[in-house]
Amino acid sequence: MGISEVTIPEHDLDPARIPTHVAIIMDGNGRWARAHGHDRSFGHAQGYHTLKEIVFAADALGIKCLTVYGFSSENWRRPQEEVGGLMGLMAYAMQAEIDELVERGIRVRVSGRLDALPKDLQQVFADAMRRTDSFTRITFNLAINYGGRAEVVDAVKQVAARVKSGELNIEDIDEQQISDCMYNPGMPDPDLLIRTAGEMRLSNFLLWETAYSEIYVTQVCWPDFRTDQLILAIQDYQKRVRRFGAVVE
Ligand code: FPP
Repeated sequence: MGISEVTIPEHDLDPARIPTHVAIIMDGNGRWARAHGHDRSFGHAQGYHTLKEIVFAADALGIKCLTVYGFSSENWRRPQEEVGGLMGLMAYAMQAEIDELVERGIRVRVSGRLDALPKDLQQVFADAMRRTDSFTRITFNLAINYGGRAEVVDAVKQVAARVKSGELNIEDIDEQQISDCMYNPGMPDPDLLIRTAGEMRLSNFLLWETAYSEIYVTQVCWPDFRTDQLILAIQDYQKRVRRFGAVVE
């Protein structure tokens, strides 16, 4: 089975200013489904097809890391049937796509408290990470059972353990030490955070890592967030002046 063609529409993006790391809160599957007269699961299935397109488009555009919020630690509060459906969809999608991800040289990471996931899903994710670990094109990082505060708590536990073992002095704890204990040490912080479907909040996503990220919110629901929408988001990003707290004349 060959790999499918990725078509990138005409655009005027500055290739020198493509964001290195793009993070996405993929919201609005349910609203999109309702608006089209379908149930929520149809919206999630459509969201999967959009995600596939966006991963390949991000790679083609030269983005080096793409982190997407697939399932938050709060999403367990959804009806059991929807949670089960999402877990099944993720297992199906990763198994269906892994060969193409490998062929394209895309590195897969899955971040979050994975030990709470169904065993078969843990296995699918572990296999995907193992098969793609040496790849250096784009890193596709799927946040699953992920919470930004939980990630900070898990990092603090690691730092505390290092102090307890005598490996680290309290005085030497700094931002870098904390970053090194997050789920993806070495991954640059997101330059651009995209949220679809219009809500103006972070929803516990990448709280530590988004300190200086540029935020782009679009009204477009996730299933309709295709490559042209990603290009619009990057165009908007390229107009921003990033100051990182400093004054820029
Ligand atoms: C938000 O829509 C979306 C999610 C909670 C899950 C994201 C899942 C996908 C994009 C499906 C494919 C994922 C993988 C990894 C294959 P919502 O249900 O919160 O929408 P609403 O706010 O309109 O109800």
